[in-house]
Amino acid sequence: MDDLESLADEIRSADTVVAFTGAGISAPSGVPTFRGDGGVWEKFDEGQFTYGRFRSDPAGFWDDRVDLQREMFAEVYQPNAAHEALAAMGRDGHLEAILTQNTDGLHAQAADAVSGDSSGDSDGADANGDAADDNTTLLELHGNARRVRCTDCGRRRDADPVFDRAAEGELPPTCDCGGVFKPDVVLFGQQLPGTVIQRARSLARESDVFLAVGSSLVVEPAASLPRQAASTGATLGIVNLESTPVDDAADVVRREDVTEVLPRLRELVAE
Ligand code: APR
Repeated sequence: MDDLESLADEIRSADTVVAFTGAGISAPSGVPTFRGDGGVWEKFDEGQFTYGRFRSDPAGFWDDRVDLQREMFAEVYQPNAAHEALAAMGRDGHLEAILTQNTDGLHAQAADAVSGDSSGDSDGADANGDAADDNTTLLELHGNARRVRCTDCGRRRDADPVFDRAAEGELPPTCDCGGVFKPDVVLFGQQLPGTVIQRARSLARESDVFLAVGSSLVVEPAASLPRQAASTGATLGIVNLESTPVDDAADVVRREDVTEVLPRLRELVAE
């Protein structure tokens, strides 16, 4: 039995399986990663996008953010075979939760696709990161970049028209109530919402199998959640092209493309 087969066995007999994902799961869909060759942080300076800058210089922040959004969302992306494999595992009752650092909304879209929801309403996780479908909780830890939120009244809007207004010179773009819009994401220097991080930590602790997929695992809470899961008894599987600082704590490490490994894992679980 190879290591993927034994991981599939563990998943089949587990009560709680949690997947934790990063930019690498969306890379095969064309979404740029943050680190590594061609990563976003080679072209932009993280310091341009801090919460402190948003507060002190919202116009400058938005001016730069338009460029970042164009880089990140240059095309209309579709979920790939790895998103679909996780969504199918969720639909089949083998995945309790997806915790994602990604802000691209592709997990929610994949969940809609496998559950046959054609409404196009793919922003599955709400503000507190609620259900993607009936079986699987989706926590978008860093928010959703396809939305903006008013810093005064809290109203959420589709990001595209607001970014268009900013690109045309409305800096910063504002809500009907007069409040400044902020991308609905967690900026550098901003805390993750307490309820979201608490749920993520308790899911990690409860998990019998924890899969870390397509993340460099260097940014908090990515750096600590898989270790926390392993230290409370979970079988830890890591799927990532490059090595990560958490590989030493993992039971299974596959340095392969997510679109190869996850569909295979899903097939083995379903056998
Ligand atoms: N299959 C498997 N792994 C892949 C693939 C692929 N097809 N493509 C890329 N990877 C791996 C890379 O090797 C890299 O280690 O995905 C990882 C992506 O790492 P990062 O770019 O650091 O992304 P992530 O871990 O999600 O970053 C965390 O950092 O800047 C912040 O807020 C941003 O949410 C982001 C956070």
